Amino acid sequence: MTKKIDLVYQENVAIISICNPPVNALSVEVRKELLDALKEAEKKENVEAIILKGSGKTFPAGADIKEFGLPPQKPDLPTINDYIENINKPVICALHGNTLGGGLEIALACHYRFAHFKTKIGLPEVSLGLIPGAGGTQRLPRLIGIPEAYKMMASGLPINADKALKLGLINKVIQDIDESSIHFTKDLIENNNNFIKTKDRNELINNANEDKINITELKNNFKKQYRNQLAPQKIGDCLEKLLQSSFEEGQNFERNTFFELLKTEQSKSYIHAFFAERTSSKIPEIKSAHPRNLNTVGVVGGGTMGSGITIAALNAGLPVTMIERNQDSLDKGMKNLEKIYNRDIEKGRLSSSQVEEIFSRFTKTTDFEALSSVDMVIEAVFEEMNVKKQVFKILDKIVKKGSIIASNTSYLDINELASVTSRPEDVIGLHFFSPANIMRLLEIVVPDKVSNDVVATGFYLAKLMKKIPVRAGVCDGFIGNRILNKYGDCAYFMMEDGATPYEIDKAIFEFGYPMGPFQMFDLAGGDIGWAMRKRLKPMRDKNERYVHIPDKLCEKGWFGQKTGRGFYRYDKGNRRGDEDPEVLEIINLERQKKSIIPTKFSQEEIIRRYMAAMINEASNVIYEKIALRPSDVDVTKLYGYGFPRYRGGPMKYADSYGLDKILDDIREFEKEDSIFWKPSNLIIELVKKGNNFDSLNE
Ligand code: 3HC
Ligand code: NAI
Repeated sequence: MTKKIDLVYQENVAIISICNPPVNALSVEVRKELLDALKEAEKKENVEAIILKGSGKTFPAGADIKEFGLPPQKPDLPTINDYIENINKPVICALHGNTLGGGLEIALACHYRFAHFKTKIGLPEVSLGLIPGAGGTQRLPRLIGIPEAYKMMASGLPINADKALKLGLINKVIQDIDESSIHFTKDLIENNNNFIKTKDRNELINNANEDKINITELKNNFKKQYRNQLAPQKIGDCLEKLLQSSFEEGQNFERNTFFELLKTEQSKSYIHAFFAERTSSKIPEIKSAHPRNLNTVGVVGGGTMGSGITIAALNAGLPVTMIERNQDSLDKGMKNLEKIYNRDIEKGRLSSSQVEEIFSRFTKTTDFEALSSVDMVIEAVFEEMNVKKQVFKILDKIVKKGSIIASNTSYLDINELASVTSRPEDVIGLHFFSPANIMRLLEIVVPDKVSNDVVATGFYLAKLMKKIPVRAGVCDGFIGNRILNKYGDCAYFMMEDGATPYEIDKAIFEFGYPMGPFQMFDLAGGDIGWAMRKRLKPMRDKNERYVHIPDKLCEKGWFGQKTGRGFYRYDKGNRRGDEDPEVLEIINLERQKKSIIPTKFSQEEIIRRYMAAMINEASNVIYEKIALRPSDVDVTKLYGYGFPRYRGGPMKYADSYGLDKILDDIREFEKEDSIFWKPSNLIIELVKKGNNFDSLNE
């Protein structure tokens, strides 16, 4: 086994480096060897100070998440941190890269903290449904005060080295990890510097008591901000303990709370999401192919999606040429871009000179010939097969050999689009989500004849754009929209059967979504779904249930937020929307027409049906190999559709709820409508074998 710790001596300084690539996670081997190295360095008489650092790209980014759920192994991290803190020689940590979680907790126990100017410093345990479990909740507030510490821990967001210095979290920002840390450590030795252990720094704690810092109030604020999440509240409990008891008692309380949370479904779901996100780019095509050159990109269409994609590509450092069908549309596209970049400047996200540099890589024109030499073209024109085919035929004639031709279609058959070109091996689907410069999901749709290196290039583009790619097969709506249509229909059925759109939205919001389906339809624009329903009408089974209410609203021109009315009213720029009695009237009329006697739906019943519809269709998507594995469906729903992360995604939720119970629910609903509620073969098979969706994840 390779050594995880390197201990060297430079005159009177011991330098301990942690070597556990890629992120120097604090696995049991690291902890064992680290403790041994600390003991050895402490014992050496001529050693006057110890420097602790991470080798390679980073100081440890935290505990080893793969060990969570396994029986704990000694030495644990709190023991190591206590050991460090009690060493009688100064222990200095030199931080760089991502100093996170358990990594930062080690740093907090050291006597001095130096950080490279690019270091990101944070306690992100909440994003795993956890709290810092190695003294973080008790040491960080002693350095930076309760309010700032609570903010850092509850958000989980890292801060930069300058901010850490300002807050008092670190002692020095350094330019070079090796040279500067030795240099300043020698200074410390020469000046015979006395240090105070972090656990003994009680000034800020006493001040907090005197200033009557109200932790209950802070907890309530975070309860609203981090809805339904356990960990931010538990951090508040640890802070209350900090004010009332000794460091040791506080640390024990924190440790017990950490293990309590580790057992919760929330934490298991978050951890599932963490690994699911990192698995989605592990696909068969990448094993056998390398990405093609990708130095320039063309985008056809400068509307909502075309301009968002253009910005995403520009922000990834690529030169982009945008094509529109006429000067007027091109000007509108340009305005879209300017609006977003001007806001970035206003908000201080980008400087004027950065935006200038970005625009120097941007070209706009109505002449398709300008695309002749680009490496990839992404088409984002109207969602109409004939319009797209026309564009694909032109592109086929113009773009150089080996260029990739991609479509951003939401639903259409990419095999059919590929078939109008002479090079179907170069055609792929790249389904971005709106706003494309912000949303992290990218569905990479793999048609039958595409080459593996084109697929690999799609994944490479996602990496350049810092997006989360998910591989999808060709079908109407791919993974995300295909499933959305099913649970969307289920929402329509419940609406027609007796629930109001507002009751359904409330139930879904309280389940953890940022908004309910009707608010989402209003936001996306009712016309999009309307066009899709019209397109699918000829294919629809006559016996299939169809709810006309959304069409009735569209016929009135009520497309949602953009027209001021949809399922909600958006008067005078009110973006939250008010309930609309006229919509309820339309719903009532439709019920009367179909002789439906409205029934009452409890929140629980709404969730039961909505989730069953979602999971059943997701299961079909896996069964038909449209998604490679259940965790890819989870990633799609988490990053593209607002599924609450603390529930891990619909497939993880299904496993927690029990697949047998899901099947029972579906079979119960099947009695009402055997076409819509046909149980997925995969669920039936899994239940028969006593397996769950997770058994299909790699
Ligand atoms: N434990 C185990 N494996 C980890 C890990 C961890 N803490 N952090 C990352 N990895 C693995 C990833 O799974 C991935 O593995 P793969 O290559 O097999 O897919 C590999 O390391 C590289 O990770 P990323 O692809 O995420 O690399 P990036 O460079 O994009 O990001 C990072 C680096 C910002 C450090 C990111 O990996 C990250 O956020 N990691 C988790 C950090 C974290 O949550 N730390 C707290 C852990 S809990 C804790 O410390 C408890 C303590 O309080 C007791
Ligand atoms: P949009 O209507 O805002 O933009 C389409 C643009 O394409 C218009 O600016 C139009 O002038 C241009 N265009 C049309 N024909 C052209 C041609 N022959 N040559 C050059 N430009 C042409 O539409 P939007 O919303 O941007 O959608 C574009 C595509 O993205 C569609 O396929 C849609 O399904 C898909 N999509 C849309 C999402 C959304 O939320 N709006 C999300 C994901 C995908």
